[in-house]
Amino acid sequence: MMKRVLVSGGAGYIGSHVTVELLQAGYDVVVADNLSNCDLTCFEGVKKITGRNDIPFEKIDCCERDAVDRLFSEFRIDAVIHFAAFKAVGESVAEPLKYYRNNLLSFLNILEAASAHGGCNVLFSSSATVYGETDRLPVTEESPRQPATSPYGNTKQMCEDILRDTVMATAAYGTEVMSGLDKPGPVKGISLRYFNPIGAHPSALIGELPRGVPNNLVPYITQTAIGKRECLSIFGNDYPTQDGTCLRDYIDVVDLAKAHVAAVSRMTDGRMEDGYEIFNIGTGRPVSVLELVNTFEKVNNIKLNYRFAPRRAGDITAIWADPAKAEKKLGWKAQRTVEETLASAWAWEKHLAGK
Ligand code: UFG
Repeated sequence: MMKRVLVSGGAGYIGSHVTVELLQAGYDVVVADNLSNCDLTCFEGVKKITGRNDIPFEKIDCCERDAVDRLFSEFRIDAVIHFAAFKAVGESVAEPLKYYRNNLLSFLNILEAASAHGGCNVLFSSSATVYGETDRLPVTEESPRQPATSPYGNTKQMCEDILRDTVMATAAYGTEVMSGLDKPGPVKGISLRYFNPIGAHPSALIGELPRGVPNNLVPYITQTAIGKRECLSIFGNDYPTQDGTCLRDYIDVVDLAKAHVAAVSRMTDGRMEDGYEIFNIGTGRPVSVLELVNTFEKVNNIKLNYRFAPRRAGDITAIWADPAKAEKKLGWKAQRTVEETLASAWAWEKHLAGK
């Protein structure tokens, strides 16, 4: 029987790319999304790319416990990938309770339903933000987590811990996940710590759709290039790096999506070595903000309007992944080059502009 994956937040940026890769790898998918931070553009794109018009879409808010429970009663779900969460760092500082309520409650509901219906495999979408600032680069999964500097970051750390504790506690229900049953079962868990996801699907039918002024670098670059924004501000050129700008590990969103398929199959095929596992998902290559901007200009043959501006509060100087564990255990490795990724980001922005 085909395995079915519930993708919460599946209409969003990363969720839509993951849905495509899951379907193409032969999984059945149920998409659940409350459309609070996106519309159906990407879900329609997923249908076009995969040629599937029969993907179940449930417009639910995972903060509603009954709605989540109903999903698990209605579908036999072999794995959940949980994306449904707020993700703006600055907003989380201004409205912490909104972030704690939404990001924690939705995950609690998923975990309770997952365990109550015979157990389930749960993949949590975590972030490199849990590592904070560190001198020991690249970071491995064993690198210590630093105290979170925003409520958003804190919800990522807390959800990782909630998943780990749930795995430990529900191990009492045995080892075999028997999803679809009407009795409690074990939860197995994987947290994927993403570095900086960027780019779009090569079809240019799905990509990032920021609401309002983008917080993140690449959407700001593409919106400046298309003329929606006047000028890109590069936040800080006095950092202790080669060119003075921050270093990050930019991971292509399609590569990132494939990491989810690898992690889901590790769980559903019973290949986990531990009930709870953590993987860094990055390229292992640090790239500076200025390098990224210059590469964007070069591959797309565009002169970008940018200026150097003061540092942005809360930014760390540098972080990049040691992705060796993901390669060894998941058989996953980033494939696309930064050039290909930046070309795809530009193709998507042009697609949105109807060009
Ligand atoms: N940057 C600019 N100008 C912009 C936007 C960003 O120079 O207009 C710079 C930032 O200063 C940073 C780099 O580009 O050096 C990347 O910034 P992003 O906002 O794209 O990404 P971050 O590394 O800040 O964000 C990541 C994740 C978040 C996570 C955060 C933790 O995307 O989910 O790290 O701080 F919370």
